[in-house]
Amino acid sequence: MIKAQNVVKWFGPTLAVDNVSFEVKRGEVLGFLGPNGAGKSTTMRIITGFIPPSRGRIEIDGHDIEEDGIAAKRLIGYLPENAPAYPEMSVAAFLMFVAEIRGLSGAAKREAVERVIKSCFLERVRHQPIETLSKGYRHRTCFAQSILHDPPVLVMDEPTDGLDPNQKHEVRQLIKSMGQNKAIIVSTHILEEVDAMCNRVIIIDRGRVVFNGGPDELRGRSDVAGAVTVRIRDRKGDEVRSVLGALPQVARVSVLGDGGALVRLFPKGDGAARGAFAAAVSDGLRGKGWAFDELHTESGELEEVFRAITQSDTVDGARKATGGGEAKSAAAA
Ligand SMILES: Nc1ncnc2c1ncn2[C@@H]1O[C@H](COP(=O)(O)OP(=O)(O)O)[C@@H](O)[C@H]1O
Ligand SMILES: [Mg+2]
Repeated sequence: MIKAQNVVKWFGPTLAVDNVSFEVKRGEVLGFLGPNGAGKSTTMRIITGFIPPSRGRIEIDGHDIEEDGIAAKRLIGYLPENAPAYPEMSVAAFLMFVAEIRGLSGAAKREAVERVIKSCFLERVRHQPIETLSKGYRHRTCFAQSILHDPPVLVMDEPTDGLDPNQKHEVRQLIKSMGQNKAIIVSTHILEEVDAMCNRVIIIDRGRVVFNGGPDELRGRSDVAGAVTVRIRDRKGDEVRSVLGALPQVARVSVLGDGGALVRLFPKGDGAARGAFAAAVSDGLRGKGWAFDELHTESGELEEVFRAITQSDTVDGARKATGGGEAKSAAAA
C-alpha cells in the first residue's frame, strides 16, 4: 500500500532524509523510531505528499504521490506533528467540515463524525472551540480528522503525544485494531509502543534506515537476550559466581543484587537453544541442592538496542548537520 523508493530530502545544506526505502502492506503497523531530528516527520510529510522529495518516489496503492496526488491522498489519513486545525471552529464543526472535504455528506457524514468523536474520546469537548482545548484534546481532534474517511493508509506522527496513560492505552489499542486491515505508519520515541502496536519496526538515525525488522528481531539484538536471570536463596554472589560460572554451558555470570544472589548467566555460543540453557542452569542449581525463587530467560531490552543502534547520534557535535537545537536543549535539561 505504501512504497517509498530511495527518498532523499535536502533542506538547504541539511540532509534530512538519506536514501530511505521501505514498503508497508495492508495488515502491517510499521513503527517509525529514531531520536529527535532523525528525519521521521520529514519522511512522513513526503509520504503524504505534503512536501516533495528532493529525489526518489512514493506510491500509495500504485498511485504516484506527485503525479497522481489526488488519487493517492484520497487513500491517506494523516496525523501531522503539530496537529493543525482551525482554532475558532468547534470540534464537531471542524470534523463536519473535514468530512465534507473528504466527500462525505448527509447521514454518512454525521455517522462518520459521531464514530470518531466516540473513538477519540471527544464527547466532552464536542462544542468547544479548538483554540480553548488542552494540547491532548487538540491532538485527539486532529487524530479524529485523520480517520474520518476510514482510509486504507494511515500515517501518524507521534499519535499518543499529549495523552494521559489511559488514553495512550486506548489509542494504541485503536491503532492496533485498525492495523488489521489498513497499512499504518506510526512514529514514536516511546519504545513500549512498539510492543503494544507494531508488527514491524524501522529505526532511522540521521536520515538513514539503520534497522528494518520485527520487534522480536530488534529485541534479539540486545546483549541480555537469551541470558538466564536467577534468584538463589541463602547464597552469596561470589560463591554463586564461581560455582555457576564453572558450568560448561555458562560463558559468564554477572551479579545483579548485592548481598543476595540475583545473578544473570550468559550462555556460550549464540544462545540459540534458549530453553536448553534455562534447563541446564536449573539442573546445575538442583545438582548443588540450591533453592531458587525465580528463574527466567531474558527476551532482551528494546531500549538498550535502540541506544546501541542510534548511539552515533548522541556524540557531541554530530548533531550539527542534522539540526542540533532539540538535542542540545534535551542535554541541557
Ligand atoms: N522545513 C525545514 N527546514 C529546514 N530544516 C528542516 C525542516 N524540517 C526539518 N528540518 C531538519 O531536518 C531534520 C529532520 O527533522 P524531522 O524530520 O523533524 O526529525 P524527527 O521527526 O525525526 O524528529 C532535522 O535536522 C530538522 O532540523
Ligand atoms: Mg518529528
